[in-house]
Amino acid sequence: MFIKGASQRVQGIYFSKIREMTEKAAKMKREGIDIIELSQGRPDFDTPKHIIDATEYALQRGLVHYDMSAGTIGLREAIAYRMKEDFNLQFDISEIIVTIGAAEANYLVTQALLDPGDEMIVPDPMYVYYPGLAFLGGATMVSIPLDTVICDPEKIEEHVTEKTKAILLTSPHNPTGQVIPKKSLEMIAQLAQKRDFFVISDDIYYKMIYEDRDDYINIGSLPNMKERTFVIGSFSKTYAMDGWRIGYLAGPKEIMQQALKMHQHILSCPNTFVQEGARVALTSSQACVDDMVKEFDRRRKLMMSYFDDMGVSYKPPQGAFYLFPSIKEFGMNSVEFCNFLLTKARVAVVPGSAFGELGEGFVRFSYTTNYETIKEGMERVKSTLVEL
Ligand SMILES: Cc1ncc(COP(=O)(O)O)c(C=O)c1O
Repeated sequence: MFIKGASQRVQGIYFSKIREMTEKAAKMKREGIDIIELSQGRPDFDTPKHIIDATEYALQRGLVHYDMSAGTIGLREAIAYRMKEDFNLQFDISEIIVTIGAAEANYLVTQALLDPGDEMIVPDPMYVYYPGLAFLGGATMVSIPLDTVICDPEKIEEHVTEKTKAILLTSPHNPTGQVIPKKSLEMIAQLAQKRDFFVISDDIYYKMIYEDRDDYINIGSLPNMKERTFVIGSFSKTYAMDGWRIGYLAGPKEIMQQALKMHQHILSCPNTFVQEGARVALTSSQACVDDMVKEFDRRRKLMMSYFDDMGVSYKPPQGAFYLFPSIKEFGMNSVEFCNFLLTKARVAVVPGSAFGELGEGFVRFSYTTNYETIKEGMERVKSTLVEL
């Protein structure tokens, strides 16, 4: 329905289907129905105490005023340090912007790169907001199967045209939990140089990898790639700081300066005391992250054991905290299946169709809630599906 008065630009983007499901489940909960929530990508852990303490101390010290638009020097130095440690990627602080979550970083980079007529390649299934970002940039999103990127990277070139401006990669991947292998990234790097396009690397789950860690690299660390790679990071998942709304974007300086103008127009500067907590998160011991990842892995194994038991097929997730089983054998589309689970099993999950055309036939289960709740949720799913 066309809304008179609203711009065509804003009418061409859509509300998140994940949030739609979460809100539906929340409404049922408010009505007193006992719902098990496996739909959100939101860690159930509290933010580690040393990060909270550092933030409280920042408030007490009076870090309550505007600071630099790109972010405090201390936090940008910490981001540069962590990227060097974890990705072997050397960024100067002038190449980094602290953002309001990876969400803003995704927005900034796409709007700073894309012009009407440009094309952006995105593996399908994909994170829910990517199509809207291409649309807002006036660009065309060219979706290619994620399986092509992972298993047949030599076929990616068939989708590259004169108009290709960028490819947007997520690894570990939301919603499938797959990690893009090093071999695929090497081929994409060669292609990006040969056909002259940028790579946007949305790496917010990079600390959450359970298998084959050696195969994980950041594409920006490959020869001659730093000058055409944008790295997106976030504190939301790694440090259980999703409500703090803080992340970052790093990339080639000249374009980053353009992105900074937009960032200034939107928010002047990020929240100052939150940045102090984020700085401490990056520079202190990472043991808290290792502990959370260990627990996610335990939950991942639990969830996989239920799908194995039910004979439901899925690709074992190598990272992030999602499982994306096939529901094709149940004779329902993914929305019908999720509504069925919500009403019959009282378990909330997200329809695969929320993540693009190739997500249809699948459903996303998150293992972000505690072990016992996952167990109860999966018991309910099992007894409901047995009756089908
Ligand atoms: C792939 C991906 N990118 C970006 C985001 C946004 O994260 P943030 O909370 O940092 O804005 C998410 C959140 O789920 C995500 O899965």
